[in-house]
Amino acid sequence: MHHDRDCPERGFRKVLAVKIMIVVGARPNFMKAAPVVFKIHDHNATVAALSGEPQATPEEKIQLVLVHTGQHYDEAMSGSFFSDLGLPKPNVHLEVGSGSHAVQTAEIMRRFEGVLIEEKPDVVVVFGDVNSTVACALVTSKISPDSRGKRPLIAHVEAGLRSFDRGMPEELNRILTDHLSDLLFVTEESGKENLCREGVMPEKIHFVGNTMIDSLLASEEKSEKSAILDQVGLRSRSNGSTNGVRRYALLTLHRPSNVDNRDTFLSILEGLQELSGSCPVFFSAHPRTQKRIAEFGLEHFFQPGNESEPAGIRLLGPLGYLDFLCLMKHAALVVTDSGGVQEETTCLMVPCVTVRENTERPVTVTCGTNVIAGTSSENIRKAVKDQMNGRKQARVPEKWDGKAAARIVETILREFERRNSTSRSLEGTSAATMVRGAEGTGHPGLP
Ligand code: UD1
Ligand code: UDP
Repeated sequence: MHHDRDCPERGFRKVLAVKIMIVVGARPNFMKAAPVVFKIHDHNATVAALSGEPQATPEEKIQLVLVHTGQHYDEAMSGSFFSDLGLPKPNVHLEVGSGSHAVQTAEIMRRFEGVLIEEKPDVVVVFGDVNSTVACALVTSKISPDSRGKRPLIAHVEAGLRSFDRGMPEELNRILTDHLSDLLFVTEESGKENLCREGVMPEKIHFVGNTMIDSLLASEEKSEKSAILDQVGLRSRSNGSTNGVRRYALLTLHRPSNVDNRDTFLSILEGLQELSGSCPVFFSAHPRTQKRIAEFGLEHFFQPGNESEPAGIRLLGPLGYLDFLCLMKHAALVVTDSGGVQEETTCLMVPCVTVRENTERPVTVTCGTNVIAGTSSENIRKAVKDQMNGRKQARVPEKWDGKAAARIVETILREFERRNSTSRSLEGTSAATMVRGAEGTGHPGLP
């Protein structure tokens, strides 16, 4: 995981020492941030190796501060991802927890401000579209400038995605974060187009690929060692074989528009009845979803996990990353309303039905395995049937190649250097450090 073995090496160049703060808070943030954290570790190891010292000195290495807001806090929603991904313990934990949008966002802002003032990073990196993302970007954008009149650069990883549905809380978080950010790292072409249309200066936009896919590619082999297929009774042991996997589908639902409304939730479950009559459907239910199932009295839709039962929807809690990756990879079909899962199934070439009216990730439809079914029972039934009967022609989107984090770290360092070199001469600086190039080609918008 820590090694970006495929990253073509180029020369090294000098930049100023830099302190980078990485902010995570909710489940999808961990997969997106991990490769950036590891790339920074790699950089420091390279600097140390080049200097002949076992450790890079503080002036030479990138100082990394990992902040966890605590938006997600259960072991199954947070802790397990740190161990599965090999992420270090956060340097700062804000322990914010759950609340309404206003309360949660405000509390993150209140607690993050003190950390920012104390740590004084040069760059703050935020990921995705959750409340932690917009809260920390907003605090950083309004922090008092230092004695040189500067505040930290804000880098947004996964910028520019748009569902064009302002009823979706994440859409507001995306728009606001993008317009507060100095460096916008996009995962797909549509991100560039959306940002340009909204008047974001092209030189701020960098098409780097997808760090969630970096994590997937780095973890795929490890996920094959997961025991989950045996645990849920999917590995057929007939004829002494341990390799055969029974046919099954995987389901995730957590969007408030789907699970907080009883009628919509029911419509989705009814749309899956035919599928769950033909093969077992494993439902990894988010805590929000579990609560709603109990509240709406929907328990009767689910079969208890039972190997002798050939079909039905089997309710599971939220799964660890490696277990979930393993289940996704071997599934005949994935049905989801998750953003990240649409991308991961595209990369794994597993057919995906998205139970939403839109997607902010159109490349998963135009290029990948995803179809948008909406939430009516009839449309879901039809989309499932189509996907089960014939695989969509699909390919992996451009730059989803496991090197997105390398491009991001290099761009941050280059941009930081460029901005500082206008106010300070680099000549003879002892704080100079060496940067490994990410890739032979330049990035759009770079000087
Ligand atoms: C959040 C993100 C959403 C993302 C999802 C990923 C926002 C606005 N939403 O939605 O974009 O797709 O995370 O999973 O940021 N809860 C627990 N344990 C936890 C975390 C949450 O029990 O560790 C329960 C609480 O009852 C909480 C509810 O889940 O009220 C919702 O959590 P919250 O973080 O507010 O939103 P998500 O639905 O998780
Ligand atoms: N995921 C996981 N366990 C689960 C469900 C999802 O590890 O039970 C992973 C999934 O592989 C992807 C990420 O969580 O990497 C997606 O997060 P989520 O669906 O919570 O949020 P979204 O992407 O919709 O914002």
